[in-house]
Amino acid sequence: MKLRFRVVLMFIATVGLTSIAHAADPIIIKFSHVVADNTPKGKAALRFKEEAERRTAGKVKIEIYPNSTLYGDNDEVDALIAGKVQMIAPSPLKLGPRDFPEFEVFNLPYIFPSKSVLRRVTDGKIGQDLLKKPERKNILGLAYWDNGFYVMSANKPLRSVADFKGMKMRIPPSDVFEAQMRVLGAIPVKMAFAEAYQALKTGSVNGTQNPPSNLYTQKMHEVQKYITVSNHAYLGYMVCTNKTFWESLPSDIRVQLKLAMIDATRYANLYAEEDNNEALAKIVAGGKNEIYELTLDERETWRRALMPIHRDMEARIGRELIQSIYDESSALGHKR
Ligand code: LMR
Repeated sequence: MKLRFRVVLMFIATVGLTSIAHAADPIIIKFSHVVADNTPKGKAALRFKEEAERRTAGKVKIEIYPNSTLYGDNDEVDALIAGKVQMIAPSPLKLGPRDFPEFEVFNLPYIFPSKSVLRRVTDGKIGQDLLKKPERKNILGLAYWDNGFYVMSANKPLRSVADFKGMKMRIPPSDVFEAQMRVLGAIPVKMAFAEAYQALKTGSVNGTQNPPSNLYTQKMHEVQKYITVSNHAYLGYMVCTNKTFWESLPSDIRVQLKLAMIDATRYANLYAEEDNNEALAKIVAGGKNEIYELTLDERETWRRALMPIHRDMEARIGRELIQSIYDESSALGHKR
């Protein structure tokens, strides 16, 4: 009897200690992305980490893996679905090849005539409905973070549409950008972001497009002499988590993570434009690049050439979705 009592006591003590040890183990969130820390996305991810860890008082630990160090464009979505990472923040277009072509709406040329229209879309019903779409693949959209507007780069000036003829241009895996490059007369080359610098350096592609923050932090400007500030399309991100993981979190933790995400989103969308302006200013200050800003007439010629892509992409993206963004533009007084 005595012995059995001692065994029971030992059992209780062991189980007790184990559960204390478990209670002290932080929840680890691996957050993988493909750009540098000092970019709009990189900084917002770090801000989320800081806020989330502070708010949960050490119960959650966010591990950030920037620059495709853990997963890159080609495997981060699968890694999220498989639960190998708990958060990613891809450009929504990267869900296009994963059966979600509607996300390419964000990249249609000139779809957002102003930032206010963009914000109305991301914060309003259109954006919030889109966040829910990937749930059927166990992906939960949490927020939209800005990067900015694309510039073009190459080793020759790209001012008129004719300048693109025969140029091999690196693009992310997007049918919209493929169509865009073809309309310009270029040869689109779909390629993961992590491979772009090397491909530009060795000349296996001749040019590319990205907001200045990405161009600068990947040192692409060191292998691309000419930059055209064209602002022809938008690049932003959709922060995604694994749905099963998210729903398994204790509800108090989830509330704090949501609040941290609201804070990081505000931060991202407040500073992204400034980050891009600063990156462009640094490239200018380096004195090795020629930066060209399209004149109003040139911009209009590009616009006329590229706008038919909206119609061409209706079957892929959805006519109603495109129309709903036009409606938001009209509501803010923009004319097409
Ligand atoms: C690209 O592939 O060019 C960008 O989407 C990379 C990024 O995430 O900003």
